[in-house]
Amino acid sequence: PNNRTYSMVKPHAVADNHVGGILKMIEEGGFRIVALKKTQLTAAQAGKFYEVHAERPFYGELCQMMSEGPIVAMILEKENAVADFRALIGSTDPAEAAEGTVRKAYAKSKGENAVHGSDSDENAAIESAFFFSGLERY
Ligand code: CMP
Repeated sequence: PNNRTYSMVKPHAVADNHVGGILKMIEEGGFRIVALKKTQLTAAQAGKFYEVHAERPFYGELCQMMSEGPIVAMILEKENAVADFRALIGSTDPAEAAEGTVRKAYAKSKGENAVHGSDSDENAAIESAFFFSGLERY
């Protein structure tokens, strides 16, 4: 449904104890947490999740970074969730992220950019199903 998006807190931000701060920004941004779990990806699982980026020069680095420690995965609900969540998190490059965005507050670089947010309703559904069972998504 187009009122949901998928997000995860990336390993560097979990390791630096920013989960609480990031969830606070997400809830205050008007999103309801539908499902949430802490888990760790293998490099192969990260590779599958980011398959669409397989030809990019940063793909290897991305898979390594996303599997180096636990992540916090979640499904979020709000009207216009995909677009509104991308606005809340800000630009991929923290140097370009607007004041008040999650990445402005917590990103360290283009790769270590604190959080992921789905880029379309279709990908939100695919990514949510990658991490959560049907029962967990109900
Ligand atoms: P995300 O929104 O999770 O989707 C793709 C990810 O690739 C992105 O966040 C970054 O973590 C990573 N990424 C995008 N561009 C670059 C880049 N130029 N260098 C390194 N990593 C990148």
